[in-house]
Amino acid sequence: MNIRELLSEKVRTAMSAAGTPSDCQPMVAAAKKAGFGDYQANGAMGAAKKMGTNPRELAGKIVTELQLDDIAEKVEIAGPGFINIHLAPQWLAQQTGSAERDTALAIRPAETPQTIVVDYSSPNLAKEMHVGHLRSSIIGDALVRILERLGHTVVRQNHVGDWGTQFGMLIAELEEQLAQNESATMALSDLEVFYQQAKAHFDADPAFADKARDYVVKLQSGDEQVLKLWRQFKQVSLEHSAEIYQKLNVSLTEADVRGESFYNNDLAPIVAELQEQGLCSEDQGAQVVFLQELADKEGNPSPVIVQKKGGGFLYATTDLAALRYRAVDLNADRILYFIDARQSLHMQQVFTLARKAGFVSEQVSLEHHAFGTMMGSDGKPFKTRSGGTVKLSALLDEAVERARAVITDKNPELADADEVARKVGIGAVKYADLSKTRTNDYVFNWDTMLSFEGNTAPYLQYAYTRVQSIFRKAGVSPESISADIIIGAEQEKALAIKLLQFGEVLAQVADDALPHVLCNYLYDVASLYMRFYEACPILKSDVDPATRDSRLRLCHLVARTLATGLDMLGIEVSEQM
Ligand code: ARG
Repeated sequence: MNIRELLSEKVRTAMSAAGTPSDCQPMVAAAKKAGFGDYQANGAMGAAKKMGTNPRELAGKIVTELQLDDIAEKVEIAGPGFINIHLAPQWLAQQTGSAERDTALAIRPAETPQTIVVDYSSPNLAKEMHVGHLRSSIIGDALVRILERLGHTVVRQNHVGDWGTQFGMLIAELEEQLAQNESATMALSDLEVFYQQAKAHFDADPAFADKARDYVVKLQSGDEQVLKLWRQFKQVSLEHSAEIYQKLNVSLTEADVRGESFYNNDLAPIVAELQEQGLCSEDQGAQVVFLQELADKEGNPSPVIVQKKGGGFLYATTDLAALRYRAVDLNADRILYFIDARQSLHMQQVFTLARKAGFVSEQVSLEHHAFGTMMGSDGKPFKTRSGGTVKLSALLDEAVERARAVITDKNPELADADEVARKVGIGAVKYADLSKTRTNDYVFNWDTMLSFEGNTAPYLQYAYTRVQSIFRKAGVSPESISADIIIGAEQEKALAIKLLQFGEVLAQVADDALPHVLCNYLYDVASLYMRFYEACPILKSDVDPATRDSRLRLCHLVARTLATGLDMLGIEVSEQM
């Protein structure tokens, strides 16, 4: 079900019957204000301008041709030529009825399923995952879930940083710690501490520093002894990330890891190809591409170093190789990157150069979906009290602990309180992030995110449990109800329309990669549900059985919409809270 598309079709047909040029759009959207109908078609104005006629008159002609059958109960012309469409309660009742019975909630799969590669999370394995990776992991994962739900083939790519000069120092340190009878798991139990030990060792001991440098060379030339240490390091670090993904309910697994090292053998050929095409030139011993396309205001081209003096390759070189692999080997139609906005120039350079070099065809859509920074209450990037980076794992544990306190306070008798606290705490952190406009910075605030009021995870999770408790009280299962849905009260109508917009919203989120649009939608559903609940009694003794059953079915559709929507954001619900 997609009301917007359905109405667009109908209005488009009426427009051509009314003689508008074929490139005129019907411009149908859900009405922004009460009094504008439920949906508005605003295409008459543009068309009239093209035709040189009076827009209101043209709108009148379109309305005469408009065949909405039983979909609308009233159509009116307003203002300079808006067409306000009031949907018919009976039609809404039928549509919500079939959505409620449909396992797919009447969400239509995408018309042309695509292969979509999504690069997200992608931490550097040398260090512990920190809050910077929270946004990439959960925003990317929400998109992955939504795209899959719409029938696309999604290929997750965890482009972990598992290569580069710092690994020489790290594996030299690992070797020494292993020699002191440490196991790799023990030595690397805290990657942050380990990194500092290695760095201190490197700075204080010239012999160790030499060894570290030698290990970089050995690593690059494929020395089996050094590779073995590197693999051990990588394995333990990946296990740390896997633990976080599990805590976060992020769907990445080890099979999705295609780290930087995966592209090692492609890097020299990439540079050779750029040279052959005359795209890069030597500059102070390095191989550099100068992109005029991304020139600054003074006209200076944007330099991209693809090979350092001495032969080493760079982040950009690996990303070029990865991009080509995704376009050619994985056959992607779209490639999505969820990376911090601070890497925007880097991504622009990689995209521009890849197109220029013909590594990716024009048909493939390359999209960097950048996000802002998570800020502390002081308005500066989120840090620990001592100024260090906040470990993601500690932050998530704190979230669950805080949620536990809130829940115990609200409902001391709750069974399963630990499990509920886990879902609420993790859900709160994720939702607080996902519900903010992706491109903006946002302030991390425990109290707001754990509040049961406002646009928060606990509010939505609680709305879900309210519906579940109605069914418990009623003593019936939703599936056993056979009555039709009746849309009578204004609150029922508003709720029904909102519920039927789920597919529309998902299609938009899939295109724009903006999960906050889904959050706002779910919040609207929950708020309209609360209004409905207050205005429309369900289990009171004076409610006739047909009305009661109809309302129970609406409640059920609300619960399923909330649970499904939250699941697409990677957030779990509980039966009781
Ligand atoms: N490892 C990088 C970092 O932590 C992010 C990698 C993002 N993906 C990419 N293809 N460049 O900043």
